[in-house]
Amino acid sequence: MKAAYLQFAPVYLDVEENWARVEALLEGLDVDLIVLPELFSSGYFFRSSADLDQVAEPIPGGPTAQRLSEWARDTGATIVAGLPERDGKRCYNSAVTVTPTGETHTYRKVHLYYEENALFDPGDLGFPVVEVSTRDGEPYQLGVMVCFDWYFPEAARSLALGGADVIAHPSNLVLPHCPESMPIRARENHVYTITANRHGSETKNGEELTFIGLSEICGPDGEVLRRSGRTDTEIGVASLDLDAVRDRSLNAYNDVLMDRRPDAYVTSPAS
Ligand code: ACM
Repeated sequence: MKAAYLQFAPVYLDVEENWARVEALLEGLDVDLIVLPELFSSGYFFRSSADLDQVAEPIPGGPTAQRLSEWARDTGATIVAGLPERDGKRCYNSAVTVTPTGETHTYRKVHLYYEENALFDPGDLGFPVVEVSTRDGEPYQLGVMVCFDWYFPEAARSLALGGADVIAHPSNLVLPHCPESMPIRARENHVYTITANRHGSETKNGEELTFIGLSEICGPDGEVLRRSGRTDTEIGVASLDLDAVRDRSLNAYNDVLMDRRPDAYVTSPAS
């Protein structure tokens, strides 16, 4: 199967312009899976909760989720994209997975970064893995995590234990270390990872956040199959081998997931 990330710079609060930028990139793209950045429709560094209120929307049923479903139907690709979700009084930093056959699945970011903590509710859906299909009808297991989730190896591990073959990772990275860490996440879980980051910068009260680009697709042996530069607006495409990813044995004795020893692990910090 073929997977792609779209790296671009969303415009703060300009949802229609952000749709237009993505639509221009989607033109002629012929792949099975497309991953867009975190909060692709809205921008990231919210100056107030009133700003967030303007652009947060229900999933499914909101205009961006609707538009994404149309793109999935028209391109024949499954699409994973980050957007601000409104659910009653709560707001989540969510990623939606939409399929060409009209299914919608939601992941709500579990590990909130920096001032996201003052704006969003932490995700309450765990780390779901869903079955989707390639354009040829081959089913595979897709997991989603969002940006700062990378810092917690438990996120990718939970998705791998849930059966994920591929992890989609919509991002708005500002810390420098993720591009070097995702090949490790891919290797230690023997999965493909697709990190779709944005570039550009946003300011709030004189504070500037610069997003580092460097979107990438990593393979189960820890190899970087495709990586963009820091400021490119572009699509990165790679071929993924679903048979190879499902064999997690290292040799006749060792298997990356089966050899875990949860009985020996510490799960809380010493006080
Ligand atoms: C981040 O989680 N957007 C840094």
